[in-house]
Amino acid sequence: MPARNLLTLLGQPHLRARLLLMGDAKALTRAYFLSSAQRAGILAALGREPSSAGHLAVTLGIERPELLDALLRLGVFLKELSLDGDRYRLAGARSKAFVGDGGDGLAAMTEEMTTIYSSVAERLPATLRGGPLADYLESSAELVARSSRVLEPFLKEFVNHVVGTGRPTRLLEIGCGSGTYVRHAAERNPRLSGVAVDLRDDVVRTATANLAAWGVGERFRVVAADIRTPPPDLGAPFDLVTLYNNIYYFDPAEWPDLFRRIRGWLAPGGALALVSMMRGDTLGALEFDIACRCTEGLAPLPRLNNLTASLRVSGFHDIESTKLVPGESVYGIIAR
Ligand SMILES: C[S@@+](CC[C@H](N)C(=O)[O-])C[C@H]1O[C@@H](n2cnc3c(N)ncnc32)[C@H](O)[C@@H]1O
Repeated sequence: MPARNLLTLLGQPHLRARLLLMGDAKALTRAYFLSSAQRAGILAALGREPSSAGHLAVTLGIERPELLDALLRLGVFLKELSLDGDRYRLAGARSKAFVGDGGDGLAAMTEEMTTIYSSVAERLPATLRGGPLADYLESSAELVARSSRVLEPFLKEFVNHVVGTGRPTRLLEIGCGSGTYVRHAAERNPRLSGVAVDLRDDVVRTATANLAAWGVGERFRVVAADIRTPPPDLGAPFDLVTLYNNIYYFDPAEWPDLFRRIRGWLAPGGALALVSMMRGDTLGALEFDIACRCTEGLAPLPRLNNLTASLRVSGFHDIESTKLVPGESVYGIIAR
C-alpha cells in the first residue's frame, strides 16, 4: 500500500536528516562510480566508442561480467552513462570531462577523494587517539601530482608574474616535482636558467626527463638533495628562489632557518616566491589540512599571517601576498 508506506516514512524520526543523507549518499556513490569506472578503464573505452558490456569485458580483460553489468547499471542510474540498444555511452558532464582534454586532473581529484581521503576518514578515530600517521607521501605521489594539475593555470599566471621577461635570471626551484613550473618559468623568460632541487631520486629522474622532453633541459641542473642540508655547490647567488606547494613539508619551527638560508642565496634585488594552500574556511583547505595532519612527514597547512611573520623575522621586509584561486585559500607570496 504505497500511501501507507509514505505515511510510515513521514512518521520516521529525523525525517529531514534521512532525506539529506540520501542526497549525500548519491554524491558519494557518484564519486565512487566515477573513480572505479575511470580506474578500470571503462570511461576511457566508452570515450573512444560506445560499446556493449560484452565488448567492454573483452577489451578490458574483465572476468566478472555480472559485476560489470551492475556497475554499468549504476552509471546509467546516475546519468553518467546512457544505454542505447545494447551499447553504453558517456552521458554525464563529469564522465565526459574525465576523458576529455585537460580532464585528467579532475579524474585524479575524484580518485583522491575515494582513496586517500577515504582512508584518512577510516583511520581518523584511531589517529585522534594517537594511532600512527599514514605513509601517504610514498604511495600517493603520482596521484597528487596529477590532481594538482587543476591548480596549474592559476600558478602559471603567478609564475609569469614573478619571472618577468627577457632579463637574465638565475632560478633555484626547491621541491620541483615534475618540473612543470620550471618549464613555465623557462618558457616565459628565454634567458632564465638555474637549478631545480627535489628530495626524491625518482622525482629528480622524472623532472630531468620532462625538462629535456620540453626542450629546456640544457638550461637547468636537476639535483637530488634535501634543501635543509644543501650541497655546497648549489650555485648561489640566485635572482629567484621558489617554494611551490611544499612549505607544509617543513615543520613551522624550521621556517626561520629555511628562510634565512634562502635569503643568503639571493642576489641583490632577488626574491623568494612561495605558493601554498593556506589554512582557511574552505572545503578544500579544511579537508587538505586534516589529510596533512594525518600524513607522516607533513605539517599542518600554514596560516598566512604566521608565514609572513616568519619571513619578516628571517630578514625579508618587502612581503606581498595575493590570493591566486577564486574560492580557495591558495596564496602566492613574493618576499624580498
Ligand atoms: C606536492 S610536491 C609539489 C611539486 C611542485 N613544486 C609542484 O607544485 O608541482 C612537493 C615536492 O617537494 C619536495 N620536497 C619536500 N621537502 C623537500 C626538501 N626538504 N628538499 C627538497 N625537496 C623537498 C617533495 O619531494 C615533492 O616532490
